[in-house]
Amino acid sequence: MSEARPIFPPAADAWVPGLPGRDIAKALRENALLAFPPEAFEEDVIVRSFLGRQQIILNRPQGIHHILVENPENYRRTAATFRMLRPLLGNGLLLSEGEEWKYQRRTLAPAFAPRTIPLLTRHVARAADAVVAQLAASAEHPLDLLTVMRSLALEIAGTSMFSLGMERFRPEMRDLISGYTAHLGRPTLLDFLLPLAIPSPRDFARRRVRRRWMKLIRQIIAERRRIASEAAPHDLFDLLSTARDPESGAPFSPEGLADQVATMISAGHETTGLALFWSLYLVAAAPAVQQRIAAEAATLDLGPEGAAETLPSLVYTRAVVQEALRLYPPAFMIARQARDADTAGGIRVPARAVVFIAPWVLHRHRRLWAQPEIFDPTRFLPGAPPPDRFAYLPFGIGPRVCIGAQFALTEATLVLARVIRAFDIERAGDEPVVPIGIVTTQPDHPPLFRLRRRA
Ligand code: HEM
Repeated sequence: MSEARPIFPPAADAWVPGLPGRDIAKALRENALLAFPPEAFEEDVIVRSFLGRQQIILNRPQGIHHILVENPENYRRTAATFRMLRPLLGNGLLLSEGEEWKYQRRTLAPAFAPRTIPLLTRHVARAADAVVAQLAASAEHPLDLLTVMRSLALEIAGTSMFSLGMERFRPEMRDLISGYTAHLGRPTLLDFLLPLAIPSPRDFARRRVRRRWMKLIRQIIAERRRIASEAAPHDLFDLLSTARDPESGAPFSPEGLADQVATMISAGHETTGLALFWSLYLVAAAPAVQQRIAAEAATLDLGPEGAAETLPSLVYTRAVVQEALRLYPPAFMIARQARDADTAGGIRVPARAVVFIAPWVLHRHRRLWAQPEIFDPTRFLPGAPPPDRFAYLPFGIGPRVCIGAQFALTEATLVLARVIRAFDIERAGDEPVVPIGIVTTQPDHPPLFRLRRRA
């Protein structure tokens, strides 16, 4: 059974040689995946100048360890990251810093502890049941699985974290997020050049998006409070609204609470929806992989009551998700700016230098992986030689590691198993699907798929 096949398109082929600074900015705006030169996939460090500042593409494991694990206080998110993400995430967990971040992380961590997974799997299994029924009802037509997976991930985020169906909010929420990534989520030259304290022209438009987005989030909170008074489910929202700072005893302010809700919904669903999409995209071209997933899932109880217990048996399906996260990491880049000069794994990092630690590059690096361009889930099976700890970072690493990593892996594994157990899938056309890095790694268009019920 051959599972190893090259994927299309390969990583660096679309690179335009000799990009000067202005063209790097253009790539970062239009498709940041093209801002990495071919040698980045072979070397352990690339140093270049970008708008008068040093930019370091870092692949050396000891250097990554130093920056993300040993000395993270010296590295903050870049001004461009704040500009791009603040309208949607405010000062929630992903963008807060220092003592404020420590307090937020401590407060939120219990909601994402391993013991919460059974509760989560129940929500995921219910949503997966619904999506399988929905797909079965429309399977005679070619289907846009990107939209289906995004909606599903949003529904799961809403029900599992806030005990709230998202159907009513979905059209405006998706409209806002996709409109934002299509235009204002793309950094301009001024977004890189201006200090954060000086708004760039696009920042004014971003503030308008923020007002619309937060209005929607406040509606979600109001709706959730109404349910709470009828029957109090215990979920992330309860935890957020009853959280107290251990020192001051203060609760989150109404704005602080809204920022956390906004962060969890957007960080939690866009990435997971994409992980599911790319998993389906890859298996659509690999019938043997689908057969193996279907065989693994065939006799397991993956329903709302049984899934938490059977989940650990989905060993192969989980490996498929991990391999999809390697080839198409939804968070394609972790960018940091040095506060003070430092040395990371023997590499000199001047003050204010920008360091790119890019899962997109690391995961396809020729020295860190055997045949990186091949889709081969068996690399992640127990017993296979494990990759270097710093060569595989779909969720980051260190104190700022993704708080929702287990949540996302559980969700993607269970949904993939349910969908592939029910259907054999293939692409309905052969137009190339080009990955585009704008905030997340997205396909350039929503390809159509044909689904056939598995006998
Ligand atoms: C496949 C899905 C996901 C991927 C690929 C992903 C990726 C990441 C990465 C790479 C980071 C670290 C960023 C950095 O160090 O700069 C991160 C942080 C974060 N993620 Fe995720 N994530 C996923 C799912 C989720 C989910 C489901 C949630 C919430 C329910 C979530 C919430 C967050 C938050 C709040 C942070 C910030 C943590 C902090 O700074 O303390 N993510 N994510």
